[in-house]
Amino acid sequence: MNTTPSRARLSRRSFLKLLAAGGATAVGGAVFYETTPWLNYDQDVALSRQTIAVGATGQARMRDLVRAATLAANGHNTQPWRFAITPDAITILPDAARRLPVVDPHDRELWISLGCALENLLVAARAMGYAPEVTYPEATDAITVRLLPGGAQASPLFAAIPLRQNTRAPYNGQPIPVADLDRIQGMPREPGVTLQVRTGAAEREMVREYVTLGNLRQYADTAFVDELITWLRFNKREALATLDGLYTRCAGNPEVPRWIGQRVVAGTQPQQQADADAAKLRSAPAVALIASATDDKVAWVRTGQVYDRLALTTTALNIKSAFLNQPVEVAALRAQFQQACGLGTATPQLVVRMGYADTMPRSPRRPVEQVLAEPSPQI
Ligand SMILES: Cc1cc2nc3c(=O)[nH]c(=O)nc-3n(C[C@H](O)[C@H](O)[C@H](O)COP(=O)(O)O)c2cc1C
Repeated sequence: MNTTPSRARLSRRSFLKLLAAGGATAVGGAVFYETTPWLNYDQDVALSRQTIAVGATGQARMRDLVRAATLAANGHNTQPWRFAITPDAITILPDAARRLPVVDPHDRELWISLGCALENLLVAARAMGYAPEVTYPEATDAITVRLLPGGAQASPLFAAIPLRQNTRAPYNGQPIPVADLDRIQGMPREPGVTLQVRTGAAEREMVREYVTLGNLRQYADTAFVDELITWLRFNKREALATLDGLYTRCAGNPEVPRWIGQRVVAGTQPQQQADADAAKLRSAPAVALIASATDDKVAWVRTGQVYDRLALTTTALNIKSAFLNQPVEVAALRAQFQQACGLGTATPQLVVRMGYADTMPRSPRRPVEQVLAEPSPQI
């Protein structure tokens, strides 16, 4: 009896079984490796967000000021900054290696991010008893904060620094009380920067239309999607390895291995993204528009300061906020958006939805020692 055919059949079947089992194990192993249940993300990230001590002195105080600055909002969480410390000043410098050439070709959002960091630093410095004096980046590519002596200014905005976040969840639609809207509208501005809060349904729908047009353009552009993917952190292991970028869990998305995440993002239909953001915008009872009289480095820094003040004020009022900047990021839409918003000659810079939702996981930050410029003689 010739057993060869049956042996051959059996061994092929076994081989396929083995292959399936091996494949499943490999995929399971990869998922287990990527999601790393032994790493505690929340504990690690809580370290960077510890309460900022007002009583610290010397080097510890300078480090806390820099840490406060790094907790600010920034484009794609690139953290595009470096800090140089001298005995009585901190200088904030752009980090060219962390530019976003596709979504931010003129470094507009990079300088807005530095403005956000500046405002956090100023709020913290005042709480620590300084009367800080700012030199804006007119003559150089640097923002310098001189730490002059002053009286300590307690402020709810200081306590809000480690708590603020860009909350990307859908909001619950609950309206913001008029008294809180008045507090937001009454916030101090920077010279040349305006902030308007729009609560009317028609106005919010107009903003939604431009966000949709922006999403349709951006997600049809492979360069935009590729750049986004390089800053996405699809799981805890990736987020903790770099301590920067957009960790999927912070936006309410599941942890996946990179090879899966990349495919999902690259395969996102522009309309899918537009619909998701439209629903988020419609869930928000108010939208803030920040605009500036000029469109240059100093205006961008001052825009960042006003946004950060807004974000800290809303955090102190337990109101959540998140950006939807597509109508400004897509150059072809900006002028039409400016007109539709009735901004006159002011240039739109930022679009922010506001409302109520649960807090999301916190985004990571690099530790102070990784953002110090050389030389920082005090550290
Ligand atoms: C200038 C600027 C533009 C931004 N644009 C967007 C945006 O269009 N969509 C968005 O979801 N987040 C946007 N962000 C938010 C950042 O992604 C967020 O600040 C960063 O990931 C850090 O997270 P955190 O603010 O929760 O700490 C922007 C932030 C800045 C400063």
